[in-house]
Amino acid sequence: MQRGAMPQIFSPRADRRLRLALGLGGLAAVALIVAGFALVRSDRAWGVGEAAPQPIPFSHAIHAGEIGLDCRYCHSSVERRADAGMPTAATCLGCHSRVWSVSAQFTPLASALALGAPVTWSSVHRLPEHARFHHGAHFAAGIGCGTCHGEVAAMPRTVKARTMSMGWCLDCHRGPEAAAANPSTARIEHFGVAIPPLTRCSTCHR
Ligand code: HEC
Ligand code: HEC
Ligand code: HEC
Ligand code: HEC
Ligand code: HEC
Repeated sequence: MQRGAMPQIFSPRADRRLRLALGLGGLAAVALIVAGFALVRSDRAWGVGEAAPQPIPFSHAIHAGEIGLDCRYCHSSVERRADAGMPTAATCLGCHSRVWSVSAQFTPLASALALGAPVTWSSVHRLPEHARFHHGAHFAAGIGCGTCHGEVAAMPRTVKARTMSMGWCLDCHRGPEAAAANPSTARIEHFGVAIPPLTRCSTCHR
């Protein structure tokens, strides 16, 4: 080794490798951030297409599809109230008490009936506390269930078909005339009722 001269810490080849590694690291960090944003916007991040574990393996494909029961048979307040309403154990047992009651999968129905308590279905649509939704208002405007829930009558297990994100709500609220058979303009024209813009924060937030 020569005296006086600083020994080179890295050989030129190692130096090139280090620079390459640093460069790739930077690229990877950028890719991770981009992927993060994409995930936040993707349907999967909102649970679209994912079923929830249920106490009874209920199938809309059988009940609303094959048998052809109307949605309102089980979700009876959907035309008038904010919440669509869920069937009671008695609604199910009207059909299942005689023929299928022996099966273990109906035990939760029997106990719900005995306790006078609702069956504890898991929800795949529940909005956060701060957001407000109203089924009756959308029903009156002529927006079909499928616009927001997809082809429920074809689902063996219930899944979310749309994100239900604020951006998704606003996409329609900015121009509901395109989706609604009976939008608010009709109310204004016929009854002279002024309806606040559907994009106002307080429409959906308390
Ligand atoms: C025989 C009764 C019955 C009928 C008819 C029925 N449903 Fe349901 N529905 C249920 C039950 C029970 C659940 C809870 C279990 C589940 O999610 O699969 C449910 C859940 C749902 C959910 C998810 C609720 C949540 O909180 O995530 C939607 C959306 C829904 N139903 C829409 C419909 C639509 C649209 C129709 C008509 C095409 C319909 N249902 C017909 C019984 C019924
Ligand atoms: C404009 C979109 C939209 C339409 C149209 C719509 N829903 Fe919903 N539905 C939602 C949202 C959002 C939720 C979650 C509400 C919450 O958490 O407050 C929901 C929740 C539900 C639930 C769970 C119980 C509840 O009310 O929280 C059922 C059942 C349901 N919808 C059935 C129906 C049926 C049946 C129809 C058609 C008659 C329908 N929905 C039409 C958006 C819609
Ligand atoms: C109008 C009558 C009727 C009502 C109301 C009804 N069901 Fe059914 N259910 C049926 C029939 C018919 C079948 C099909 C049986 C078969 O194919 O062997 C069935 C099948 C089922 C099955 C078996 C599904 C499978 O994969 O084999 C379950 C679980 C079930 N129903 C749960 C429920 C629940 C929970 C409710 C109430 C929310 C309900 N049913 C309401 C008539 C009804
Ligand atoms: C496909 C179009 C569409 C989608 C999607 C939609 N809405 Fe609406 N919304 C409407 C229309 C149309 C009305 C009724 C306006 C009227 O009363 O004439 C309405 C009314 C409402 C009202 C009642 C306003 C009032 O004061 O009467 C609330 C609350 C609401 N929407 C919340 C939501 C939320 C939250 C979401 C998303 C989870 C959503 N909406 C998704 C079209 C839509
Ligand atoms: C058409 C209905 C609707 C309107 C109008 C609306 N929001 Fe929302 N907002 C929602 C829904 C649904 C959620 C829950 C889903 C989500 O986080 O995207 C939400 C979520 C939020 C959140 C929480 C976001 C998070 O990451 O948790 C904030 C903050 C918010 N809204 C602010 C506002 C403000 C400010 C306005 C007015 C400029 C507004 N919103 C107007 C429906 C609405």
